[in-house]
Amino acid sequence: INKGNGVKGLSQMGLKSLPKQYIQPLEERMSMNMTKMPEESIPIIDMSNWEDPKVAESICNAAEKWGFFQLLNHGVPIEVLEHVKEATHKFFEMPAEEKCKFSKEHSSSNNVRFGTSFSPEAEKALEWKDWLSLFYVSEDEASAHWPPVCKAEVLEYMKRTDILIKRLLEILMKRLNVTEIDTTKEPLLMGSKRINLNYYPVCPNPELTVGVGRHSDVSTLTILLQDYIGGLYVRAETTDEDTWMHVPPLDGSLVINVGDALQIMSNGKYKSVEHRVVANGSKTRISVPIFVNPRPSDVIGPLPEVLESSGEKPLYKQVLYSDYVRHFFRKAHDGKSTVDFAK
Ligand code: SIN
Ligand code: FE2
Repeated sequence: INKGNGVKGLSQMGLKSLPKQYIQPLEERMSMNMTKMPEESIPIIDMSNWEDPKVAESICNAAEKWGFFQLLNHGVPIEVLEHVKEATHKFFEMPAEEKCKFSKEHSSSNNVRFGTSFSPEAEKALEWKDWLSLFYVSEDEASAHWPPVCKAEVLEYMKRTDILIKRLLEILMKRLNVTEIDTTKEPLLMGSKRINLNYYPVCPNPELTVGVGRHSDVSTLTILLQDYIGGLYVRAETTDEDTWMHVPPLDGSLVINVGDALQIMSNGKYKSVEHRVVANGSKTRISVPIFVNPRPSDVIGPLPEVLESSGEKPLYKQVLYSDYVRHFFRKAHDGKSTVDFAK
């Protein structure tokens, strides 16, 4: 729509008002006076003593109650986080022709894609966001196809988060009576990874649109790095009302959330919670989520250990993970509706 420079291109043109394709229906906008501010907030967990059972307890409780938590002293060096944020700015600040080399039409790999909004073909109203999405296959594949301007930084970030991801999954599984992440569990829990670089440019009418609409993630876990701007809101599922909690930017922290795949595998014990991002009228925001997923070829469903130990009936059926993901991308963001596909 603007020679391949996405929403950033629109923002740079110095628009005085929002193009009408981006105007969201009222119910999708996030009006601050409609939003009840809860008394509690998303837990902040210090992981420096990660072997302490109390830490494990807070992680599992947060995953059950809020589906979201922030981690401090998570073991990923702060410089690594800073470098990824800088590399993200560098990628999006490249001229349109450079970024377009990674668009659907031009990318040398299906695993590398630069795009805008969520799935523009499926959306009635567009989202104020550009992105680069990288599906990790191997270091060699990444070296050959990922954008040189951010490749090394992103690979280092992925490498350094690996231990953290394993620790978190081990802790969460233990509560479900899965005592070991063996060779059958590992692919289901962390068999594939995708990393997105998100760019939310300054918006002329932030109240009329969204950065990202209401959705839950299809991952098992998402590890999110956000900058200092803020704007991510999470639904408080503990109340009946439309209550959204801000995830305040916290220096050096990582935000962790449970995705649909883990909700399904835990038979609903861990919650994959709706979240959204508001647009910003004065500042550009970036975020970098790592989606830890099953392999596309895996069949997911409630884990046998969970059903055996709890005596519960399965709340979800077995689904092929690639079908589940396809279903998610076939429509616009629509809260947690993808989960119904597994019912
Ligand atoms: C998302 O959930 O899709 C993005 C989260 C963020 O940018 O903070
Ligand atoms: Fe998300």
